[in-house]
Amino acid sequence: MTESDRPLRLDAPREEVLEHVAKLVAGAWQSFDRFRPEEPPLDERVLELLRTELPEAPASAHEALDDTARILDESIAQPRPRYFMGVGSSGLEIGTMADLLAHTYDINLAVDARAATLIEKQAVRWAAEFVGYAPDAAGAFTSGGTVSNATALAAAREHALPGSRLEGLAGERVAVYTSEEVHYSVTRAVEALGIGSRNLRAIALGPGRGLRPDLLEAAIDADRAKGITPIAVVATAGTTLTGAIDPLEAVAEVCEARGIWLHVDGAYGLPAAAVRPELFLGFERADSLAIDAHKWLYLPKACGIVLVRRQEDLIASFGHEAGYLPHQQHELHAMDTTFEYSRPFRALKFWLAMRVHGAQAFRDAIERNLGQARLLYETVIARPDFEALAEPPLSIVAFRHVPEGVADLDAHNGRLAEALREDGRVWISSALIDGEVWLRPCFVNFRTTEEDVLDLVEIAAEVGERIAA
Ligand SMILES: Cc1ncc(COP(=O)(O)O)c(C=O)c1O
Repeated sequence: MTESDRPLRLDAPREEVLEHVAKLVAGAWQSFDRFRPEEPPLDERVLELLRTELPEAPASAHEALDDTARILDESIAQPRPRYFMGVGSSGLEIGTMADLLAHTYDINLAVDARAATLIEKQAVRWAAEFVGYAPDAAGAFTSGGTVSNATALAAAREHALPGSRLEGLAGERVAVYTSEEVHYSVTRAVEALGIGSRNLRAIALGPGRGLRPDLLEAAIDADRAKGITPIAVVATAGTTLTGAIDPLEAVAEVCEARGIWLHVDGAYGLPAAAVRPELFLGFERADSLAIDAHKWLYLPKACGIVLVRRQEDLIASFGHEAGYLPHQQHELHAMDTTFEYSRPFRALKFWLAMRVHGAQAFRDAIERNLGQARLLYETVIARPDFEALAEPPLSIVAFRHVPEGVADLDAHNGRLAEALREDGRVWISSALIDGEVWLRPCFVNFRTTEEDVLDLVEIAAEVGERIAA
């Protein structure tokens, strides 16, 4: 079949359309290189497109692509250097190119896909090596921290209660232990796995906002005395709220002494173990880890990684025979170790990015983000009109505007975050920390510069003064 007589043909030669796409991509990258002075509102053309019903007739590919570019340009894009909200991602260029290639071949990593399967295994080992985890770690690429955490907790549940994947919890009383500031994805995983979020023990925070190991120990021992089975401890290596790292060595000690599964949610923070290993000591003793390459390894979404020390633990909870996907011999398919079935070749972008840039370039970029957090912290504590919550443990800095004469600082900073988003020069959210409202930027973008950091303070001061008046 030639291109001209197959169905679903474009109205223009595909090479030409691809060139058009390449131009749009190059234009976007150029616009991400520097901040833009405002976020544009939806224009008439986009509003008109939003009113259209399901199209029956074909449209010009070139025209539709131009409309697409307009829609994307009028959306909030995390790769922009002044996007500081949540834990963003930066759409690293080589990752975009890898995605285009991976989606072109549309390989399914549910079953053995020959070279792609082997590359995924290699990429899993490279990720483990990058952060300093077990060199023979197993695991898989996932859609992100949520699925990585759920996957690890499913393995932990089967490990603590063998057969529970078949029988359910069968009346067994169980518990999972976390810090009070664990990411909500862990709560969701616990709910979806039938453990129940009422059985999540939120351990109070100690200095540095990490969970208190003495309270953890006491909670586990008290539960055990009541016949409750601990399923896992989930320690966080970089909380989403402040970047705090649980005391991993002490937590590992508690878990090892009691034979309890330790999962480390490093979705945001763990890449920094490659440059600040001393902050993460003990994480290497974990049974499982979550790392998101679509956060602090700059790759486009989705690119999560779940790592386990022993592959058998994943097989024990996910291995199966299905009539439509029989095992020919005794080979292991990805679907025997992962939660998802159809899986895109997400590992390719991590693999290609490491190949093209080398691991050192990623360490340097992470170091730069740590320096930006430090710069922001030092800038605000040197000013009378701002205060900082604490020294940033990683690349999140909680700070707030404290102008003279404003009594309700929480209301002021909540309004300030909203006003900043309306202003559009920086994209930032507020966060509630110990009942107080703080501005909470996170630096995980390789495009962010020191100028962007310093301007964030100036813009926050200018807008803050305006709304205070
Ligand atoms: C610590 C932590 N864990 C898990 C997640 C969830 O990750 P994802 O959104 O990739 O599912 C996040 C997201 O910000 C996170 O910061």
